[in-house]
Amino acid sequence: MLKNGHVCPKKGGEVMQGIFSKENIEKILDYVSDAVQIINARGKIIYCNRASAKLDGVEQNAILGKHVLEIYPSLDEDTSTLLGVIKTGKKIVNLQQSFINYKGESITTVNSSFPIKEGEKIVGAIEISFNITQMKKLTEKVVDLQTKLYKGATEKRKQLKGTAKYTFSDIIGNSRVMRIIKERAMKASENSSSVIIYGDTGTGKELLVQSIHNYSNRFNKPFIAQNCAAIPNTLLESILFGTVKGSFTGAEDRKGLFELANGGTLFLDEINSMPLTLQAKLLRVLEDGFIRRVGDVKTYDIDVRIITAMNMNPKEAVEKKLLRKDLYYRLNVLSIRVPDLVERREDIFDLSYYFIGKYNSKFGKQVNKIERQVMDIFLTYAWPGNVRELQHVIEGVMNIASDDIITKDDLPHYFAEKKVSIGWGKSERKSLRKCLDELEKALIIDAMASVRGNVTNAAKRLEIPRQTLQYKIEKFNI
Ligand SMILES: Nc1ncnc2c1ncn2[C@@H]1O[C@H](COP(=O)(O)OP(=O)(O)OP(=O)(O)O)[C@@H](O)[C@H]1O
Ligand SMILES: [Mg+2]
Repeated sequence: MLKNGHVCPKKGGEVMQGIFSKENIEKILDYVSDAVQIINARGKIIYCNRASAKLDGVEQNAILGKHVLEIYPSLDEDTSTLLGVIKTGKKIVNLQQSFINYKGESITTVNSSFPIKEGEKIVGAIEISFNITQMKKLTEKVVDLQTKLYKGATEKRKQLKGTAKYTFSDIIGNSRVMRIIKERAMKASENSSSVIIYGDTGTGKELLVQSIHNYSNRFNKPFIAQNCAAIPNTLLESILFGTVKGSFTGAEDRKGLFELANGGTLFLDEINSMPLTLQAKLLRVLEDGFIRRVGDVKTYDIDVRIITAMNMNPKEAVEKKLLRKDLYYRLNVLSIRVPDLVERREDIFDLSYYFIGKYNSKFGKQVNKIERQVMDIFLTYAWPGNVRELQHVIEGVMNIASDDIITKDDLPHYFAEKKVSIGWGKSERKSLRKCLDELEKALIIDAMASVRGNVTNAAKRLEIPRQTLQYKIEKFNI
């Protein structure tokens, strides 16, 4: 590839050759944040980019021409992924590796290594490494802190405060759909079956998960949450199942989240981001009821309730091959969809006043009313960020509110300019019928709220017969 000074241009021509010249490619690779290293068939390093030299703790030039094991004395023929690829001719993808660099620093990377062939002959290997040292340290720190937190705390509920802080009484919203959801979730608290909670961002999934744990008989046992999208796959496995010393270089004896959550609840958020191979291991654990730390032969019995969450319909996740079908059936004993805020506009009123109360005490203010015009905007806005967005809008407004009433002037300008924007959130296209239905529903909710739920008075306000209003209230599930 770089050996002859050119990367094969698909179509010839001097311009292409110029662009793909060795110098240009090297310049580009020096700006890449991942480390790139190339060795020849004898294991000598013939190229490394700037990130690679930094990782190794030496100058770029000092590495060139040296044998891999000279640069990485903590590795050997068997543990070096680059040498492994030369030996087998097979690529290695996303393998975690730890080594001590020239400066004596312990480095952990995720490596992908590929053989470079000329015909059938292996002439070298290229490796791309992603440095996860900091992330590994941080995630291990979190696990260590959780270990400390739960040490001996199982019987002392007080010490567990702050892990799962929400309960059902913190879930605001009296709409029919929210009442049904809370009821289902309370029922789910009675046993230890797996639950999948899904819904768009900011709808309150985590709130629901914590409430289920706190309402269950596991309430005084650990509640541990892990976002499966937040850390690299290789780390996720060791964080979940734990490691034993020497299972790979740099590994230590460390409990995983399954062991830490024993007796309690493990919340796996964004489970559809977990790689399918790890999903298979998770399924095994759930079926067998025991775990094995990475690199260990011993097994540990565990009793952990699993609650998962994701922002798409789990069936869709299965269709898109983001969630294994067998795991889906195992996890989906009960599934709860948390609807978008616009599907339960009647909750906007209660939520708004709830957040006002919250920020009154936080900011030492005495706001107690929302101007009618503002509530109209709230009730018709599309809320793509759902309850979280409403909360942030109110927080912002409460920062500047000087009176006891929130007026249109307090709103961010994009709100103030807002006319009715029913249903046109995100990129979805809705029919005129659906938009009109949403508008009608919002106006009815608004009218009902303004007369404290009295149907007769609301009908008068809307200038429609009482029976018509009654019919529409039922039709829209208000
Ligand atoms: N029904 C509700 N009552 C009170 N507060 C709520 C409600 N729903 C959501 N919130 C608040 O909105 C914020 C977002 O909620 P949460 O973190 O549970 O959302 P999520 O569905 O997990 O979102 P994401 O998918 O982005 O992680 C939190 O501050 C939460 O307290
Ligand atoms: Mg969440």
